[in-house]
Amino acid sequence: MSLAPLLESRRVVLCVGSGGVGKTTTAAALGLAAAMQGKRVLCLTIDPAKRLANSLGLEAMTSEAQVVDPARFAEAGLAVGGSLTVMMLDTKRTFDELVRTYASSPEARDRILGNKLYQYVSTSLAGTHEYMAMEKLHAVKREGKYDLILLDTPPTANALDFLDAPERLVSALDSAAMRWFIEVFQESGSLSFNLLAKTAAVVLKGIGKLTGGGFLQQVAEFVTQLNDLFGGFKERAAEVARSLRAPDVAFVLVTSPAPMAIQEVLFFAERLREQGMPQDAVVVNRVNQPPRSPTDALAAREEAARLALGLDDDGPDRLVQASHDEGKLAELDRRNLAPLAAALGELSARPLRVDVPALPYDVHDLASLAEVARHLAS
Ligand SMILES: Nc1ncnc2c1ncn2[C@@H]1O[C@H](COP(=O)(O)OP(=O)(O)O)[C@@H](O)[C@H]1O
Ligand SMILES: [Mg+2]
Repeated sequence: MSLAPLLESRRVVLCVGSGGVGKTTTAAALGLAAAMQGKRVLCLTIDPAKRLANSLGLEAMTSEAQVVDPARFAEAGLAVGGSLTVMMLDTKRTFDELVRTYASSPEARDRILGNKLYQYVSTSLAGTHEYMAMEKLHAVKREGKYDLILLDTPPTANALDFLDAPERLVSALDSAAMRWFIEVFQESGSLSFNLLAKTAAVVLKGIGKLTGGGFLQQVAEFVTQLNDLFGGFKERAAEVARSLRAPDVAFVLVTSPAPMAIQEVLFFAERLREQGMPQDAVVVNRVNQPPRSPTDALAAREEAARLALGLDDDGPDRLVQASHDEGKLAELDRRNLAPLAAALGELSARPLRVDVPALPYDVHDLASLAEVARHLAS
């Protein structure tokens, strides 16, 4: 099977899966495949992925969009009719842009951006990273500069957290604000908790003046300002959440053949279905391959090893063992993948499934990326 039809028909492809299974690699390889189909592609990643950047001829991934130099493709013998642009997500910067867009005035904008509490909210608050990934995706999609956007989703404990990230972020902010209030109230020690329910921000401003505490003043201001922003922000969050459910968005679940990863991917598929999201494709990455023909493989290895190393007496035995182990690993993967095959078979709208072999080397240059691309979308 091939994911080529997805790349052909969709505008956004999200790569979802637990950490380390190959999401970044899959997103980049799909991007390359689509660029080879002639598309203008953006790969939006959360990973610094230094080696991947280097292999694309870039110093590093940055939050600026960087176009991969077509000369690189030519050097690697790849015919790329389209273009490949990569960009790394910068949560704080995306949040800043959001504040700039939604603040009611330049003064309000500067006050929020300059507030110390904002530093915490924009970098460390739970849900911010996932939400900002969705936010950036939404913004780039509307910009219309790319035919296809691939999103490498954040490696969260629960890789689908970003689905309800907009709602979660809004409520997290709300509750964080509440926590600050409570802390402040406890610190001051003298105020009735009931006041919280009333015009807390105004009250806090008053306390700030009374105690001369700049901090209280800051909290009060910040909460007021964020609430200001929230009017637009909540709507925006809803819009972002809706755009994930558009028909031009594809979800690609990435897994390894490890039982834990498979369990997780089945759980994701279930959650996607509950949320009315499509499960368009499953990529099983790094599948161990059986030796093509044991005797061939053995002979080839023996020959190569003799030439390269010169073998000691145990050499041939070890080669037999290596080939045997390879076969066993492939058999183990095959068995581990049986529940996945069964579960996918039961779905009414069966997702595409592509298996990518475990390459004997890391994916660190255009040639190996192109090889993964070939398996994904030939
Ligand atoms: N099919 C493959 N064969 C060999 N190595 C792979 C393959 N896919 C990914 N890798 C390597 O595995 C590592 C983890 O992949 P990565 O895409 O960064 O995972 P994730 O983004 O899910 O954390 C990288 O070093 C990558 O080069
Ligand atoms: Mg990654």
